Amino acid sequence: MAAEPVGLKRACVVGGTGFVASLLVKLLLEKGYAVNTTVRDPDNQKKISHLLALESLGNLKIFRADLTDEASFDAPVAGCDLVFHVATPVNFASEDPENDMIKPAIQGVANVLKACAKAGTVKRVILTSSAAAVSINQLNGTGLVMDERHWSDIEFLSTAKPPTWGYPVSKTLAEKAAWKIAEENNIDLITVIPSLMTGPTLTEDTPSSIGLATSLITGNEFLINAMKGMQMLSGSISITHVEDVCRAHIFVAEKESASGRYICSAVNTSVPELAKFLNKRYPQYKIPTDFEGFPSKPKLTISSEKLIKEGFSFKYGIEEIYDQTVAYLKDKGILEN
Ligand SMILES: NC(=O)c1ccc[n+]([C@@H]2O[C@H](COP(=O)([O-])OP(=O)(O)OC[C@H]3O[C@@H](n4cnc5c(N)ncnc54)[C@H](OP(=O)(O)O)[C@@H]3O)[C@@H](O)[C@H]2O)c1
Repeated sequence: MAAEPVGLKRACVVGGTGFVASLLVKLLLEKGYAVNTTVRDPDNQKKISHLLALESLGNLKIFRADLTDEASFDAPVAGCDLVFHVATPVNFASEDPENDMIKPAIQGVANVLKACAKAGTVKRVILTSSAAAVSINQLNGTGLVMDERHWSDIEFLSTAKPPTWGYPVSKTLAEKAAWKIAEENNIDLITVIPSLMTGPTLTEDTPSSIGLATSLITGNEFLINAMKGMQMLSGSISITHVEDVCRAHIFVAEKESASGRYICSAVNTSVPELAKFLNKRYPQYKIPTDFEGFPSKPKLTISSEKLIKEGFSFKYGIEEIYDQTVAYLKDKGILEN
């Protein structure tokens, strides 16, 4: 490989086709990083067209890699200063979460981190975890505050198997595996723990998390029930603008003093509180506000205090998060004016 120009930093983003990763690639290129990104199928034009469109922003290379293929990360990680491991298998409808989500997520973490150790150039690895790895517990009450010391209750999830249990188990076990492997291999690892993300996307298809976050506006009953399920299982509806999550990834990657886990969550609310806010802000969409018998207060708050104390500031609050998402949905023709 030809030598990089002096001072140019190269970052690898694992899973470039995704909602979060594609925006992260864009922000890194705009900051002057050279970027290697991995995709499962570089021949799938529909899935990578939004990445190809970013090539004009700078030095972007696309590699083929799969989380379950041990050697596939060696080439994209070689020569990189930073590695962002964003990809994860997501299949909420899976009837076999163990094989569809849990095993490949853990395997992926091991394969990416081992490639980082082998490369010898990687100064820091940033793993995208999830609030689903933090806040799921059987505690009662309201006013609980969850921070980076907390982990979701795997024992409860694996025995009670509530709907979608495989995803939080996969995120929790993958993050725990990452910490173990990082320690064994002397890797400087940081994890970013976002809540539900929404905001405009570069991807051709609308990501499922945008569908979920906007279900009260679109009136999708199935997804409104999924939101309710999310509040009951996770203890709150916590939401963040996708751009803030990408900014937080770069912030902790560049900040020398950063270490450990960082929750990144802008807004803590509940389904009834969110519905009330949306109904007032977008009266044209006739958003339901009657949730009789459903808890109007979240059980807990997910705290981003550690990230803020480190010097990070959120760009977007609830108004901008939804204004931008609604504008995106109108643009796509999914919502009428
Ligand atoms: N979106 C949210 O609200 C949210 C909230 C909290 C945390 N997170 C975390 O943020 C990260 C990104 O989420 P997202 O919303 O951007 O998800 P997404 O759009 O569904 O992207 C997931 C990515 O993972 C890749 N992937 C899946 N299985 C793979 C495998 N076996 N090998 C290689 N790549 C594989 C997919 O590649 P293909 O294109 O080939 O399928 C895709 O690029 C994930 O770690 C997720 O857990 C997301």
